Formats: sequence, structure tokens, C-alpha cells
Amino acid sequence: MPKTTERRQRPTTTDQATRAARDARSGATAEPDAARSPGRAARSPGRAARVEGGVVVRAGRKSTRRRRRTASGFTAATADKYVLYQKAVQSPELDVEFLRRVFKSTRGREALHFREDFCGTGLLSATWLEHSPAGATAEGFDLDPEPIAWGLAHHFHDLGEKAAGWTAHLKDVRAPGTRAYDVRVSQNFSHFVFTKRAEMLAYFEAARESLADDGVFVIDLYGGSEATEEMEEETKFRGFTYVWEQEKFWPGSGEYVNHITFRFPDRTEMKRAFSYKWRMWYLTELEDVLLDAGFARVDRYFEGWNAKGTSGNGIFKKGVRGENCGSWLAYLVGVK
Ligand SMILES: C[S@@+](CC[C@H](N)C(=O)[O-])C[C@H]1O[C@@H](n2cnc3c(N)ncnc32)[C@H](O)[C@@H]1O
Repeated sequence: MPKTTERRQRPTTTDQATRAARDARSGATAEPDAARSPGRAARSPGRAARVEGGVVVRAGRKSTRRRRRTASGFTAATADKYVLYQKAVQSPELDVEFLRRVFKSTRGREALHFREDFCGTGLLSATWLEHSPAGATAEGFDLDPEPIAWGLAHHFHDLGEKAAGWTAHLKDVRAPGTRAYDVRVSQNFSHFVFTKRAEMLAYFEAARESLADDGVFVIDLYGGSEATEEMEEETKFRGFTYVWEQEKFWPGSGEYVNHITFRFPDRTEMKRAFSYKWRMWYLTELEDVLLDAGFARVDRYFEGWNAKGTSGNGIFKKGVRGENCGSWLAYLVGVK
């Protein structure tokens, strides 16, 4: 389900033509066909917004294709929320490519052993094994048996002997695993579940401890002025609409409540199929905690723009300062 990664960003200050030219020069012109990350739907500047009950509601990008009301057959009564989540939010092929590239360029060798924290269905792990040589392993950690069972039933059959490299742990992500990992990852902002600095520090310390001597720990995050707006954002996919709802944000505590809803052409919906109670963490806060946890250094990777300069392109490059825009995505890589 790497199918999309239009990680979204919205330019607020930079001239779009300049941006497009820059992307063209850098060769960063790949435009994955959809976008994902729990939460951040594709954004286009200047979209109309309305306020309903104190909440900003933005329409997603208008589709140029005719709506196919019956093509997919999706409806709330029969749709599988994990299938929809994968289609709308995840892009494991691109993610695995990024993780392999980061490890190789940082350590000068190929990574073999992988750990996926907050693994859900383990889709990223299955993709890791698919694109790794024989002998590779992947371990997933999640507290919820439902997505783990769903993933076992759906992701690993086609891997043949490589499927033996998968181990699912029904455990907290702070629990130790069974080997030293080359790459350990927390994706889709799942680590935002830790709302106290001491909890985050304990998690990062456990992550560092679990790595091989030359291992890396990779987390993603997002930010920008739109990140804490209380709003709903719709993104259309074939057969359903993905809705990211930022319901509540309290600046004093950083508490942050978000939901994913799926709507269907027959006007049914899976309301708040996934909900998240997070703390909104800023990049520099997380970087400081990683350094306090003992990582030798932290590298920052920021997403580039698509050719039109209207959205993220799913391609992350090493950077230092980032860009001040309405919505941005980044990775932090803790190097042991
Ligand atoms: C946002 S989903 C992530 C799914 C998938 N990894 C992805 O990238 O989209 C968060 C997952 O974290 C799990 N989770 C939350 N707190 C956890 C904890 N302390 N330890 C392990 N899993 C946890 C939830 O059960 C849920 O499946």
C-alpha cells in the first residue's frame, strides 16, 4: 500500500513557481498517486473552508474524475476499516525505500533486522521482508490483538519462506524484543501517544538500547500552523472519502484529540473508525529527548514538494531548518 504518499504540505509563503522549478532541478518530481499519514490529507492552497459548530471544515481537493458511486462497492455496513486505512494513510513501499536508503547512507551497509513499533497490522514489516534478502527479520509490537490478527490473515501469505522472518509481539513498545535491530521505527506519529516527557524519554532509551551498535531509530512527525487547528479535512479516494478530524487541541497541556472517519457514496459512514489521544510534540522537543536518551546524533529529513508546488511529494531529504509552511512532514533519525 505504498500506493500513495502524497504527504501533504501547504505553501504559505514560498512562490509556487520557484518551488516547482526547484523540484524539477532536484529531480524531485515523483508524485505518488495518493497521500497518507493518519491525519494529514492532501492539501491545496486557497481551498474554500466553512465553519460548522466552531470547527473549520475544509473540502478536499476536487476530483477531476467522475465519482464512481458503485465501482468499489464500499459502504459502511461491509467495508473493512483496515483496508480503507491502508488505502488512505499508508505507503509502505516508499517508506521501506526511505528506511533502507537512510540506513545505507548512514552506515554503509544494507539493513537486515527491522522492528516496527505500534505496528498495527504489520504492513510495513511485511513490505520490509518482501524487499529484503533471505535471512531478514521483522518484529512488530502492538497492544491491540485485532490489527495484529488482521495483518497475519492478510499480509504474510504471499511472502513464502520470508514470512518466517515475522514475529508479532502483543506488548507495549517499551518492551524488549529478541534481537539487536538495524532499523527500528515508529510511524504515523504513533509515539505522540506518550504525553509526558519522562514517558517519551523511557521509550527512546529503550529504543536506543535495543539497536545494533550501528542501528538507527526513525520516527516521523508533522507540524505547521494548520497542525493544531480544530478542523475536518476530506480527501477523496476511489469509492470512499477519508476524513481527518482534528477535534480538540489544548495549548496549555499539548493534549490533542483526532479521528479518522470514512464516508461512502451511498451517504453511509464509519464515524471515527480510528481515534487518537495524543500530545502534540514539536520537532525540537523530540530531538532534545532523543539526544537525552543517548543517541549520538539526530538527522532531520524533510519532505519535498510536488512539481506544482501544491503538495508534498513523499520524498524526504536531509535538511537542517525546514520550511515554515502551513503543514509539513519530517522524519527524525536517531543514530546510535
Ligand atoms: C496510529 S496506529 C499505527 C498503525 C501503523 N503502524 C501505521 O503506521 O499506520 C497506532 C497503534 O499503536 C498501538 N499502541 C498504542 N499505544 C501502544 C503502546 N504503548 N504499545 C504498543 N502499541 C501501542 C495501537 O493499538 C495502534 O494499533
